[in-house]
Amino acid sequence: MQQPTRLVVLVSGSGTNLQALLDACTDPAYGARVVAVGADRDGIEGLARAERAGVPTFVRSLSDFETRDGWDAALATVVERFEPDLVVSAGFMKLLSTDFLAKFLTLNTHPALCPAFPGMHGPRDALDHGVKVTGATLFVVDAGVDTGPIVAQVPVTVEEGDDVASLHERIKTAERAMLVEAVGRIAREGITVEGRRVRIGAGAR
Ligand code: GAR
Repeated sequence: MQQPTRLVVLVSGSGTNLQALLDACTDPAYGARVVAVGADRDGIEGLARAERAGVPTFVRSLSDFETRDGWDAALATVVERFEPDLVVSAGFMKLLSTDFLAKFLTLNTHPALCPAFPGMHGPRDALDHGVKVTGATLFVVDAGVDTGPIVAQVPVTVEEGDDVASLHERIKTAERAMLVEAVGRIAREGITVEGRRVRIGAGAR
């Protein structure tokens, strides 16, 4: 059996997507292992979840560095130490540099159907726009904001009476399932990215 795919997961908040991956990785058949969890701030539930699971953690706060490039390089250095096959940005609220992205294949999950509603407020912007269907997108991170090649998407219906919190919670339920499914398939079957086309499987690893 091949070695499990090594995941480094980056978080900034509650870490429910991370938890879904940690739970999935307890099954050896899943094909992946979270080898470290990194954050851009201390004292968050995402880090506590990693610690409870016995996974090493690290924090690199932007405010501890004189420049953004310095922060980004320090983040890349610590990530590199864990030799990831894949970096998963799961609610990590910082943009990563092209230097970082050249080193690590990095996926990000976004709570909207890209290319709609990029940025920090996907659920709010979808609600404000009055869309009837939104969702979540897993994509390969590129230099833009939520613009990278799309790996997977899941639709979520906007209900009458939804507010940002209720809509985001429903998106997150679908998002976690999508993330776990796609990362597991990538771990077991591989991934290729050609331009904007992402393919999982067929020996793509
Ligand atoms: C997720 O919905 C994720 O898509 C979103 O933050 C949430 C993190 O939840 N990310 C973004 O909005 C990035 N643009 P979690 O910390 O419970 O996994």
